[in-house]
Amino acid sequence: MQGNFSYYNPTKLYFGDESLNFLSDELKNYGPTVLLNYGSGSVKRNGIYDRVVAILRQAGKTIVENPGVMSNPTLEKLREGVKIARDHKVDLIIALGGGSVCDYSKGVAAAAYFDGDYWDAFWLQQQNPPKDQKIIPIGCILTMAGTGSEMNGGSVITDVEHMLKVGRVFDSRLMPKFSILNPLFTLTVPDNQMKAGIYDIMNHIMEQYFSDSDDNTSDYISEGLMRGLIVAARKAVVNPQDYEARSNIMWTATWALNTLVGLGKRQDWMVHMIGHSVGAYTHAPHGYALASVSMAYYRRAMKAGLPKFVRFARNVWSISGEGMTDEQIAAAGLEALKSWMLEIGLPLTIGELGATPDMIPGITAGTICYPAGYLDLKPDDITEILNESL
Ligand code: NZQ
Ligand code: ZN
Repeated sequence: MQGNFSYYNPTKLYFGDESLNFLSDELKNYGPTVLLNYGSGSVKRNGIYDRVVAILRQAGKTIVENPGVMSNPTLEKLREGVKIARDHKVDLIIALGGGSVCDYSKGVAAAAYFDGDYWDAFWLQQQNPPKDQKIIPIGCILTMAGTGSEMNGGSVITDVEHMLKVGRVFDSRLMPKFSILNPLFTLTVPDNQMKAGIYDIMNHIMEQYFSDSDDNTSDYISEGLMRGLIVAARKAVVNPQDYEARSNIMWTATWALNTLVGLGKRQDWMVHMIGHSVGAYTHAPHGYALASVSMAYYRRAMKAGLPKFVRFARNVWSISGEGMTDEQIAAAGLEALKSWMLEIGLPLTIGELGATPDMIPGITAGTICYPAGYLDLKPDDITEILNESL
């Protein structure tokens, strides 16, 4: 392992088909007023909302509702939530939904007691709330697997007016205090969102895996997670009601981005930087935006980080490589990834998401570039990647 790091994760997880039973115990740790953030209605249709509200009522909580947290939550909606949290002096935020609701809740929790322009400070300047600032605790009841937001400090918010989708990772004060992961809750996720979530998980692992050249325990854990995900995803697309597959996907999602497999690694995250900008223009599900630029990106990264791509081919895709050059083995690994993506039904181009050539300058301008993984991309490189991905 290279580098020096500390590892601390304050999120308590409850996992399994009966995990919602633990909510009432957790509620005892918090004051009477609960802000219930949720999305555009799926939790009402599938009955999860009723179950959660019944538990909150039973615990004697005053529920302040904030519905309509959209996928890829907006700054405008964040401002609404911050006002509600301030007006009602809430003691706990329950994020009931997918990554969007969870990310959004962190934004509200961080901003409610911040005296200043929180968009500028927390997202544009990437600051954390001042050390002595009050932070509202968050509990997450996850309904969709993908982002890992249930056990990390990530919060991605979109400024629609300026077509800017900005992600940031808050310090551990903004990580959920507890998260309830019930794989049964994910069974009603629409097909496209399930697939997008699967690729989001895969890409989170790849973003951390494809960097550095040392022998690192994190990479072995990543390989195991990727192998498991590949198998589970194949089963889930054939039978989305397969509990075993969906539960493995849900658990993998959490470990893919709860900081564990990134320890001791410089990491990459450029597919996410490009993907966020593609998302701001196309409003595609996050995982689709990542998938659409991945092949062009990794073909470039492969040349610079060849040994790791050879290892990826061998250890993740079981390509023996006999009689092949390293370049051929690495390329075969990427082909295997591509075949799996096609098998899952993921988009491989930004054109499939509705992006057009005239959007490329804007998507390029919205992509944050920095030296990452095996590459040091400049805006012209991003434009090339986007053109290759059309
Ligand atoms: O709005 P509702 O009704 O909740 O419907 C949602 C939404 O339309 C629906 N859905 C969720 N659970 C469902 C369900 N429908 C039926 N049954 C269920 N059980 O699915 C749609 C997508 O939900 P969303 O929360 O937007 O998806 P996801 O979990 O992929 O979150 C995406 C957001 O997370 C950010 C993304 O950029 C994007 O804004 N990310 C957050 C990260 C983090 N915190 O670390 C990292 C990621 O890389 C990502 O950037
Ligand atoms: Zn992601």
